[in-house]
Amino acid sequence: MPQVTAIYPGTFDPPTNGHLDICMRGSRIFDRLIVAVLRNSSKGAPLFTTQERAEMLAEITRPFGNVTVATFDGLLVDFARQQGATAVLRGIRAVSDYEYEFQMAMMNRKLDPQLETVFMQPAEKYTYVSSRLIKGVFQLGGDINSLVPPEVMQRLRSKVPANIAPPETGAST
Ligand code: PNS
Repeated sequence: MPQVTAIYPGTFDPPTNGHLDICMRGSRIFDRLIVAVLRNSSKGAPLFTTQERAEMLAEITRPFGNVTVATFDGLLVDFARQQGATAVLRGIRAVSDYEYEFQMAMMNRKLDPQLETVFMQPAEKYTYVSSRLIKGVFQLGGDINSLVPPEVMQRLRSKVPANIAPPETGAST
């Protein structure tokens, strides 16, 4: 049987338990999984540098022996080809994710018909978790402990030290 290498690409700003859950599932079905952090995302200024995100991913995926972390720029299909990957892994949390994911998968298939996109669903308890929400809630002092790995929590605390926003009562004095 040929060995199958898959790429799990994303922005991962920061990695969440949902991402980790997908890594765990991917590591079970692929021989080799490369978690790939996009270097120049069009999503705007990231909270963590590419290197910080790659470091966090390397720390949290260490228990899985067949998972490595890389960064990439340019087209995903080109990076996949360089790595000898034949599959792209993406997580789908809800039906609302599907439209964008379907478009990307079809575009990647157009660019490289040999590259298959595989969708996996995270555990139900992470279906509402996104990096964007994690950052927003943490910055406002919300408890996100159970939604990100401890290594990410630690980095969030050092990146956003004063994350406890003073409560506004709205009452005028
Ligand atoms: O975590 P994200 O931000 O949803 O990940 C998006 C990502 C990195 C998978 C996507 O933006 C990507 O693959 N970018 C690389 C550029 C590319 O290949 N574009 C063509 C495919 S639509």
